Amino acid sequence: MTQKLQGKVALVVGGASGIGRAIAECFHAEGATVALADFNLEACRQVADHLGARVTTHGVDVSDEEAVKVMVGDVVKSHRTIDVLVNCAGILDETPLLEMSTETFDRMIGINLRGVFLVSRQVAPHMAERRRGRIINISSQLALKGGVGLAHYCSAKAGVLGLTKAMAHELAPFGVLTNAIAPGPILTPMLEGLSPQWIADKEAELPLGRFGKAEEVAPTALMLAASPDGDLYVGQTLGPNSGDVM
Ligand code: NAI
Repeated sequence: MTQKLQGKVALVVGGASGIGRAIAECFHAEGATVALADFNLEACRQVADHLGARVTTHGVDVSDEEAVKVMVGDVVKSHRTIDVLVNCAGILDETPLLEMSTETFDRMIGINLRGVFLVSRQVAPHMAERRRGRIINISSQLALKGGVGLAHYCSAKAGVLGLTKAMAHELAPFGVLTNAIAPGPILTPMLEGLSPQWIADKEAELPLGRFGKAEEVAPTALMLAASPDGDLYVGQTLGPNSGDVM
């Protein structure tokens, strides 16, 4: 059977863990060469060891403009091209608005929103020059519904949706299709620390009655990344979210 990303190069930023890792593994299984970029280089290397051939690893802090330039330069040098970019790096913490320092807000925006901009701005020219590419930005359903203690996170993730639409407008004429995925609650290391009771209570509120798994988000990314499956999607937000937001 033909693999959907045979011969393609995918840069998965935040690919060392959780949803990013699941997307990287799915793309790899579909024939892609995968560049894993993450703050946690050691974890990237473990994923690469697990996958075997067709993988490179790149340490980066997405909020550091210079580090992003170096990382994208390294990926292009290693693979000559980037066909698919997945912006999945992110952090989460809960801080009540009335206690939130400007530093806490800025750090969240710096990684979860500015990081998407910085990486995309470095990668998009390579795609535009070749007149093809796919960019997939991982937002969150919390961008649409808000959440307590999450003013910074919801702002960043809503910003990612606006950025996605602006990029979609500007890059589509160059053959570069940009879309977002806004997952619902997904059981990944990001949610470690939440009590089983809290999770059970939240799951009971969901129409589907359960949180998702990272592997259940990956097929949405694959659909957007592959041709012809994703050919008509531009500036869309897809929601694998257990029915949390409809
Ligand atoms: P995770 O914690 O398993 O993975 C996040 C990855 O981002 C980690 O490998 C981490 O090292 C990397 N990272 C963090 N800061 C970084 C930085 N400054 N530079 C480079 N890499 C950095 O979390 P998960 O759940 O897989 O999250 C992935 C994305 O999905 C995030 O953007 C998150 O906000 C989003 N998301 C997660 C949901 C969930 O319920 N788990 C729901 C909706 C969205």
